[in-house]
Amino acid sequence: MNISPLIKASKLSLSFPSGSGKIEILKSVNFSLYEKEKVALVGPSGSGKSSLLMLLGGLEQCTSGSIIIENNEITNLSEDELAEFRKKYMGIVFQSFHLIPTMTAIENVCIPLELAGFANVRKRASELLDEVGLANRFDHFPAQLSGGEQQRVAIARALAVEPKIILADEPTGNLDQNTGSKIIELLFRLSEKNKSSLVVVTHSITLARQCDRIVELIDGNTVEK
Ligand SMILES: Nc1ncnc2c1ncn2[C@@H]1O[C@H](COP(=O)(O)OP(=O)(O)OP(=O)(O)O)[C@@H](O)[C@H]1O
Ligand SMILES: [Mg+2]
Repeated sequence: MNISPLIKASKLSLSFPSGSGKIEILKSVNFSLYEKEKVALVGPSGSGKSSLLMLLGGLEQCTSGSIIIENNEITNLSEDELAEFRKKYMGIVFQSFHLIPTMTAIENVCIPLELAGFANVRKRASELLDEVGLANRFDHFPAQLSGGEQQRVAIARALAVEPKIILADEPTGNLDQNTGSKIIELLFRLSEKNKSSLVVVTHSITLARQCDRIVELIDGNTVEK
């Protein structure tokens, strides 16, 4: 059995200069994610959860430390290499959906498939939308969809290329409880089906308890709960 982690982040720090000195968001964070694992990332508002997720996803640069993803030290990669890397490994879901407003649901799902060079892109995108329960919404624009429906499109888009790692930042934060539970069920079901690992930032204890592990950010460091 391969027990080396898919993500191994060590001694990660992140700080920003400010008028009154430097603000340390993350001090010395260690974080590992194993294959097929679901990890909840919790902590008070402002504790750096979104920042950590952005570092793990290669969307932001750490101040110091190391992030190894499948033997690649991603903190050394150039912007172009990082973009390639994200395309191959990462599916990212945001609280506010981040769909492209001028593109229909199916067009939004087609984008990562096209970028990754898939064949039969439209067919695959329609199967995915079907799977998330939006078979009759292919040609609707994001503004014509409810919050829950937009998040379904965002999940279909993030999981389209079957990434090994899914990073979700409060994916139910803008949804009512009932819709939120359905979205989580969907996210869990699809990540299990794809054998992906999942890191989900959440303020919901119920959701955190449904994961394999809970990691809390306190005072710039991670604590395993
Ligand atoms: N580019 C930046 N420049 C300066 N400060 C920043 C920057 N990005 C984030 N921060 C600060 O880092 C801290 C952590 O922010 P982050 O968004 O990671 O918190 P969070 O745990 O996700 O909070 P929430 O639960 O409210 O989403 C905040 O105080 C924020 O203001
Ligand atoms: Mg946040």
